[in-house]
Amino acid sequence: MRVYLLSVVLVVLSLVLGACGGGGGAQSAATPTLPAPPAAYAGKTNPLGPDAAEAGKQVFTTYCVSCHGEQGHGDGPAAASLDPKPKNIAELQKVAGDDFLFWRISEGVEGTAMVAWKTTLKEEEIWQVIAYLRTLK
Ligand code: HEC
Repeated sequence: MRVYLLSVVLVVLSLVLGACGGGGGAQSAATPTLPAPPAAYAGKTNPLGPDAAEAGKQVFTTYCVSCHGEQGHGDGPAAASLDPKPKNIAELQKVAGDDFLFWRISEGVEGTAMVAWKTTLKEEEIWQVIAYLRTLK
């Protein structure tokens, strides 16, 4: 009987500890760390000032709104049919550095609808659109 009780206690304990472990995992998922840009992009900063956002809005409206939506919330008309869905880049830009954004927009995200834009857009246009992303809430 004693042994039986002891093993019940152990099982309960391990369940409790297991649940705590799961909780910790969920917490770290809520504050994801972004992958580091490769060396060719790391540390780059926008050479253009906030004024470039005006031109960037044009770029965004022409090339990005269909998926990312007017406010960048990931709810453009094409978004519904995509898997994975376009990111909310208004939220992303609050935590992402210029180098991260410049890298992802230039090179795209493999296996998703986010294509590499460096063949379509000039570097300057990518920095303009990044200046615009910085205005999104
Ligand atoms: C055809 C749809 C589509 C278009 C057009 C598009 N995107 Fe995306 N974008 C996506 C999807 C889908 C993702 C999510 C990729 C993922 O899950 O990592 C994404 C992700 C992103 C990210 C986040 C990348 C990351 O790693 O978190 C940025 C920044 C971004 N897009 C910017 C842009 C900009 C700027 C444009 C216009 C020049 C643009 N996108 C045009 C579909 C699109």
